[in-house]
Amino acid sequence: MIIRSASFIKSSPALKQCPVSSKPEFGFIGRSNVGKSSLINLLTGWSKLAKTSGQPGKTRTINHFLINESWYLVDLPGYGYAKVSARLSEGWRKAVIDYIKNRKSLVSLFVLLDSRIAPQKSDIEFMEFLGKSQVPFARIFTKSDKLSPSALAASINKYDTEMLNNWEILPVTFISSVPKRTGREEILRYIEESINNLSNDF
Ligand code: GTP
Ligand code: MG
Repeated sequence: MIIRSASFIKSSPALKQCPVSSKPEFGFIGRSNVGKSSLINLLTGWSKLAKTSGQPGKTRTINHFLINESWYLVDLPGYGYAKVSARLSEGWRKAVIDYIKNRKSLVSLFVLLDSRIAPQKSDIEFMEFLGKSQVPFARIFTKSDKLSPSALAASINKYDTEMLNNWEILPVTFISSVPKRTGREEILRYIEESINNLSNDF
C-alpha cells in the first residue's frame, strides 16, 4: 500500500471522545516503550507524526491518525508500566479496554512485543483476554535490530512455545525494526488486505 497522506486527527482520553467510527481502524498496543509510536511513524513515513520517547509512558491517550483519507491508525497508551500511579494506570486500562471491546470500527489490533524480552505475563494475559473477547489481533516483534538473527528466532520460539500452552494456532506474526525499516511493507500489505476483505459495513 502506498501512503499518500497521514494526518493526526485527535487525542481522546476515552472511547466516547473518539472520532465518529465511520472508517476502518487498526490499533497499536503493547507494553510501554515497546515501540508503538515509533512503528506508526515508520508505517506512515512521517517520523514525527506520533510522539515517541525513551521514557516509558509517553502516550497517554487514544490517538487517531487518518491515512489516505480512508482509514485510521490508532496509537494506544502502553500497559504494564509500573512507575505511573496505580490510580492513573487503572484509568488508562479502563479506557483502553472499553475502546478495544466497544469500538465498532476496530478491524484488528497489533500487539507489539519487544523481541529482546522473555515472554511477559502481562502480554500473555492480554492476548488471552483478546482471544476470549474475540478481538482479532496480530503480533509484531519489535526492535529486531537489537538481536542477531539466531537470537531473534530463539526469542520468538520461546514466545510461541509459551503461547501454544493456551492457543491451538498462533496469530499472524510480523518482525519490525524502525532503524532498518523492517516489516513496513508486510504490515501495510496486511492492513490493505484486511480492508479489502471487509464487508460493506463501512
Ligand atoms: P509509550 O508511548 O510510552 O507506551 O511507548 P511506545 O511503545 O510508543 O514506544 P516509543 O515508540 O516511544 O519508543 C520507545 C523507545 O524505543 C524510543 O527510544 C525509540 O527510539 C525506541 N525504539 C522504538 N522502536 C525501535 C526499533 O525498532 N529499534 C530500536 N533500536 N529502537 C526502537
Ligand atoms: Mg507511544
